[in-house]
Amino acid sequence: MTGKVCIVTGATAGIGYETALALAKKGATVMLVGRNTDKGQMAMARIHTATRNEELFFVNADMSDQSSIRDAALAIREQFPVIDVLVNNAGTWVSQYTPTVDGIETVFAVNHLAYFLFTHLLYPSLRNAPDTRIVNVSSDSHFQTDLHFEDLNLSKNYSGLRSYAQSKLANVHFTYEFERRKPDAHVAINAVQPGLVYTDIGLKHTTWLHALGWKLRRSIWRGMTPAEGAQTSIFLASSDAAKGQSGLYWDRCKPKPSSPASYNEENAARLWGISEELCGMKEGFFAG
Ligand SMILES: NC(=O)c1ccc[n+]([C@@H]2O[C@H](COP(=O)([O-])OP(=O)(O)OC[C@H]3O[C@@H](n4cnc5c(N)ncnc54)[C@H](OP(=O)(O)O)[C@@H]3O)[C@@H](O)[C@H]2O)c1
Repeated sequence: MTGKVCIVTGATAGIGYETALALAKKGATVMLVGRNTDKGQMAMARIHTATRNEELFFVNADMSDQSSIRDAALAIREQFPVIDVLVNNAGTWVSQYTPTVDGIETVFAVNHLAYFLFTHLLYPSLRNAPDTRIVNVSSDSHFQTDLHFEDLNLSKNYSGLRSYAQSKLANVHFTYEFERRKPDAHVAINAVQPGLVYTDIGLKHTTWLHALGWKLRRSIWRGMTPAEGAQTSIFLASSDAAKGQSGLYWDRCKPKPSSPASYNEENAARLWGISEELCGMKEGFFAG
């Protein structure tokens, strides 16, 4: 991976940190993206100590805030006119209905719209690489739901589970719809199910009851280590075996079927249009 530029969102903890570490170990230039600069500097220092890779960078972006995403993407594009890998990984689980500064429910904004907007903004650099890889970290929890078009924010009937599952289904729809619309054949996009991974995702924006539930779930069901959970993202981002594979849903480094709802092309196109509108993309996704 020497000479390749990889961007990893949510690289300050969990699966994203391990993905950034592994790509740095392989010699890539790695840009870590996170919402907390202290954690970002610490993550970079740990990766540097482990790999001696000098090509490590950090940019602060709050993925719940579209202006922050735009600023970060602009800075990254200025620094890197060619980007080989984008791993959309930053994710959240929120117990109570919480609108963002843009007035969008937080889980939908961070887990889906941020993937959509960030990919759009970085696309001019992504398309310049010879073998571009985009990885969207989704989850098998998407099997539990369909899209709630009547109220995508779930403002009237919010539940953390429904909102998380819907956002992860949106990741799969985005992946498949991107594949259908993409103007550049050399750009690969895939969605990933990491498995149940022992991270703190369920402890950060949750009630004590949900936090307890997550602690029990990740322990009793023996969640994988974050390093194990990152394996499919790393495989898709860097392996020769994954070259040319695109528009698929992956688990344990193998493609598998996603939920029946995720193959609804009408819903995918509708979500794409709504996402463009919510992100203010008057110019269209692939322009820029
Ligand atoms: N853990 C699992 O069992 C599991 C299963 C299926 C899918 N996933 C998916 O895997 C991905 C990574 O999750 P994880 O389990 O590794 O969780 P994690 O340890 O909590 O890591 C999530 C990362 O996203 C960042 N993040 C959260 N909200 C953000 C925001 N508004 N702006 C910028 N960065 C933000 C976090 O930053 P901080 O360090 O500042 O918190 C952290 O770096 C997510 O997309 C999740 O949905 C996880």
